[in-house]
Amino acid sequence: MAEITIQTENGHAAFTSLYRSAGLDITDDWAALYHPVFSVTARREGALLAAATVTRRFDRMVLEYLAVEPEARGHGLGKLLTGRCLAYAAGAGETSLWVAAREPGFYRRLGAEETEDSALLADCRRCGDYQVSCHPRELVFHLKENPV
Ligand SMILES: CC(C)(COP(=O)(O)OP(=O)(O)OC[C@H]1O[C@@H](n2cnc3c(N)ncnc32)[C@H](O)[C@@H]1OP(=O)(O)O)[C@@H](O)C(=O)NCCC(=O)NCCS
Repeated sequence: MAEITIQTENGHAAFTSLYRSAGLDITDDWAALYHPVFSVTARREGALLAAATVTRRFDRMVLEYLAVEPEARGHGLGKLLTGRCLAYAAGAGETSLWVAAREPGFYRRLGAEETEDSALLADCRRCGDYQVSCHPRELVFHLKENPV
C-alpha cells in the first residue's frame, strides 16, 4: 500500500468538491468570502483522501471544513488533520479554535467543548435542512488543553 502524505497546501478553493461531496454546505465563492489561512491534506499517490481548512472569521480562527473520502474514513485521518489545524492555530498565537460542527460528536471526542455562542451558525439558520435533517453545534477547542 502506497504511503499517505500529509502536507499543507495553499490552493484552498481546490478542496471545494471534496467538501461538497462529503455533504458540507459550501458555496463556490467561500474562499473569497471566508479568508482561509491554512489548509492541510492527506494524499495517496497524489490522490486527495482528506482535507481541512482553517479560516479567520468574526475575529476568530475557525476550523471551517474537514472531510475524509468515504473509503478512507475510520483510520484516524480526520483526527490527524484536526490535530494539524489545532497546531497551526496554536502556533499563530490563538488560544481557541472554533468550529460549526455538523458532526459535533466527532469534535467532542477530540476535546472540543460546547459553547453558548452561535455566531458561526448564522449561515446554517438560513438553510432548509437546519434543525430538520442537520443539527449543527458551535464548539470550541481550548488550545492549551488540547494537544491532539
Ligand atoms: C467526520 C469525519 C471527518 C471523521 O473522519 P475519520 O477519518 O473517519 O475520523 P477518525 O478515524 O480520525 O476518527 C477519530 C475518532 O473520532 C471518532 N468518530 C469518527 N466519526 C465520528 C462521529 N461522526 N461522531 C463521533 N465520533 C466519531 C472515531 O471513532 C475515532 O475515535 P477513537 O479515537 O476512539 O478511535 C468523516 O466521517 C467525514 O469526512 N464526514 C463527512 C464530512 C463531515 O461531517 N465533516 C465534519 C464536519 S463537522
